[in-house]
Amino acid sequence: MSNIQSPMSNRNFYITTPIYYINAKPHVGSAYTTIAADVLARYHRLLGDEVFFLTGTDENSQKNIEAAQKAGKGDCIQTYLDEMADIWQNTFKQLDITYTRFIRTTEADHHKAVEIFWKRVQEKGDIYLADYEGLYCPSCEAFLTPSDLENGLCPYHKKEPQKLIEKNYFFRATKYRDELLEYIEQHPDFIQPISRKNEVINYIKDFMVDISISRSTLEWGIPVPGDSTQRIYVWFDALINYLSGIGFGKDDANFEKWWGSVQHLVGKDIIKFHCALWPAMLLSAGLPLPQQVFAHGFFTVNGEKMSKSLDNVIDPNSIVEMYNNDTLRFFLLTEIHFGEDGDFSEERLKGRYEKALANELGNLVSRTLAMTENYLSGLVPEKIDGFVNQNNWQTYHNYIKHFSFHEALDLVWEIIRKANQFVEEQKPWVQAKEDKEALKKTLYILLETIRHIGLFLIPFMPNTSLKIFDQLGFESSYLSKPLDELSRWGGLEPGQKVIKKEILFPKK
Ligand code: MSP
Repeated sequence: MSNIQSPMSNRNFYITTPIYYINAKPHVGSAYTTIAADVLARYHRLLGDEVFFLTGTDENSQKNIEAAQKAGKGDCIQTYLDEMADIWQNTFKQLDITYTRFIRTTEADHHKAVEIFWKRVQEKGDIYLADYEGLYCPSCEAFLTPSDLENGLCPYHKKEPQKLIEKNYFFRATKYRDELLEYIEQHPDFIQPISRKNEVINYIKDFMVDISISRSTLEWGIPVPGDSTQRIYVWFDALINYLSGIGFGKDDANFEKWWGSVQHLVGKDIIKFHCALWPAMLLSAGLPLPQQVFAHGFFTVNGEKMSKSLDNVIDPNSIVEMYNNDTLRFFLLTEIHFGEDGDFSEERLKGRYEKALANELGNLVSRTLAMTENYLSGLVPEKIDGFVNQNNWQTYHNYIKHFSFHEALDLVWEIIRKANQFVEEQKPWVQAKEDKEALKKTLYILLETIRHIGLFLIPFMPNTSLKIFDQLGFESSYLSKPLDELSRWGGLEPGQKVIKKEILFPKK
């Protein structure tokens, strides 16, 4: 179970995404995790929780440096990083990501937090100097064991790893093996979905070794405290963003406020870092472990791995320009079941836009508003019972609580279809001529159903949702009311004036 225990909880909720390498522009894969985190952030705000949403960029990676050199900016790496971080921030803004903080690991307070953390672990006796000899995949920024390889190659990047021999600082991760296994055993919800749990347990039992956490060959990155000949290994540095992002080492009160409720969202590719290395680091530093790590799946594009060499990397901005932001959000969350692998196809995106968005949702809203304007001068008629109830809301909360975003959206679309069917059955255009009282009942039910649809869609399709409320005649302050009040049937008051405005999803 996630740390959403009951709706209307008025609690703190701290959600994170991985911090992204900035050796390239954001693609739809990086947008995916960030959009999912945004859905949860918006959902918790809707519940009345106080939310801290952290995302950002992983800047001390060798990959970024190589990209800067390739771009001819090898002698002004910070400028390259600033430009790329800007591009990422702008993309997230364009995607309406409501992050609280965008952290960059080149920021001074992050460096300070890493130093403090390093010293704590060192004082615990968990850092030692030793010769390192091993296999390293620069694309993963990770050491691999022979058991990680497939046909001698990194399974993710299909590249032969480099052989490295050097003197490094090591983190005594193995000291925490038993404590970690016990924690996982006692906290069945720590690793989600449950299907990922065994993978992590087997890794900790059979393959977890002490980890080299510094490099002597790097010119970029955070220097090891007390030894400027070595730089801190990028993953050791990057994971600490989850602490520095909320004030570790700088603002203790803020840190204490948020850390206890943290929920990490990550892709399945980095689950071992988050469920083995990271908790071992936290145990060593004497800090509580995260509430939960949720690993979602990976998706391909038209059945192929997304890669520069295949020239099939999808830029989320181009989808937003072609359709709109909510369409991308809707598509990613309905088409790819959160937690499982999936496939992205523009063809199917187009199909869902036409059917689910334009024909079903868009049409329901525009014809209901048009009929209210034409037959009732745009005025909401008398209240009457309808077909969205508290059970629908309970089911919706339950799906989100279990990260089943596609089921939450399916539920909303069942209601949309039911409402469209109701229009066909009631034939308000006939009622307008023959039975004005029946017409009023039909239109109240439809208008109030649309209000509920607008509410359900707040976390998923925030702009569509706002447009719906606007057309129903609500001020934006309306949504600051508590959800238990908003989600009761009958929120639309008779006499309120609705105004049909722009079509939500114009035909392409
Ligand atoms: N910098 C590290 C994370 C450090 S967190 C302390 C990193 N960065 S990354 O830029 O390579 O990618 C991070 C995340 O992007 C993945 O874990 C995943 O969440 C997301 N995705 C990247 N490609 C993806 C797909 N093709 N499909 C789904 N998600 C994808 O790893």
